[in-house]
Amino acid sequence: MKDRFGRTVNYLRISVIDRCNLRCHYCMPLHVKFFDPKDVLSFDEIITVVKVAQKLGIESVRITGGEPLVRPQLPKLIYRLKNECALKEIALTTNGMLLESLAQDLKEAGLDRINVSVDTLRPDRFRKITRFGDLQTVLYGLRRAIDVGLTPIKINAVILRGFNDDEIDDLFRLTLLERVTVRFLELMPIGEALSLNGMGGYLNLTQVKERLIKDYRLVPVQEKGNGPARYWKAPGAPGKLGFITPISDKYCATCSRIRLTANGEIRPCLAYDLHVNLREAIRRGDGEAIAAGILKALEIKPWGHHWEEGQITQTVMSSLGG
Ligand code: 5AD
Ligand code: SF4
Repeated sequence: MKDRFGRTVNYLRISVIDRCNLRCHYCMPLHVKFFDPKDVLSFDEIITVVKVAQKLGIESVRITGGEPLVRPQLPKLIYRLKNECALKEIALTTNGMLLESLAQDLKEAGLDRINVSVDTLRPDRFRKITRFGDLQTVLYGLRRAIDVGLTPIKINAVILRGFNDDEIDDLFRLTLLERVTVRFLELMPIGEALSLNGMGGYLNLTQVKERLIKDYRLVPVQEKGNGPARYWKAPGAPGKLGFITPISDKYCATCSRIRLTANGEIRPCLAYDLHVNLREAIRRGDGEAIAAGILKALEIKPWGHHWEEGQITQTVMSSLGG
């Protein structure tokens, strides 16, 4: 499947729920208006969309939220995606709070890999940025996920100037100890991230990358993934380091993704409110209309964001799943 700029789109992010058990300051307001539960796609409906998308050229998917592990019976959806949809890979992004109890079931259902968000290694800061999170709970979840083989694990850390930028080296050092990939994410100017008052702000991570490469003599490496991150490692280290730099080193030219929201919209780009609402077609099980809708989303997929020129995106990140 190609968009009008010739980019191959083969990766679908599926948000299975817009609710979350945390309220990270840069992602979600304390009080959110959630989707009407009757608008949220059932597992049958998600499978219907994925089957159509797969025929059009989607090869791998990532399950997101809100927080996907809050969706009841999620391992059942993973199992069905694995067994009914002929995908190359099923990955999932989670905040890790429910991971310890679910890791085994997810692995057995056929989940390939997970990304876990850990912005800070300090319990007090972790609580502050997530509002309700508990670092220890997430670390136990990570431990369990590694033990059951949901590997290689990626750890996402959004770096905020003045909040956790003094932990960049500590987070990097995890790659010296474990077979994990630590990824630093630049703050994107979406929704809540626009009003972080007092909780830090944007930091240019391309400059951080250059400093780390020099200080630790990092070398570039290949890493499996569908996303825009580029990877490095310290000589001899078991883990890797990645950078997601949408603003300081824009990657839209190689964007391969579209998104399905929990209420049945296809979103061709994170930076715009632009979408194709397929809920009715999905409810009818109308494969042709779903296919037409996906192709329509490709047709209107923008070239990319303009965040580096001051564009801001007024959507709630949490309903898009990152
Ligand atoms: N900018 C950058 N990353 C964000 N995430 C959520 N909101 C933002 C934002 N405004 C991250 C989450 C998660 C990933 C899917 O996106 O922390 O790790
Ligand atoms: Fe793709 Fe839009 Fe993200 Fe750029 S901003 S990488 S085009 S989704």
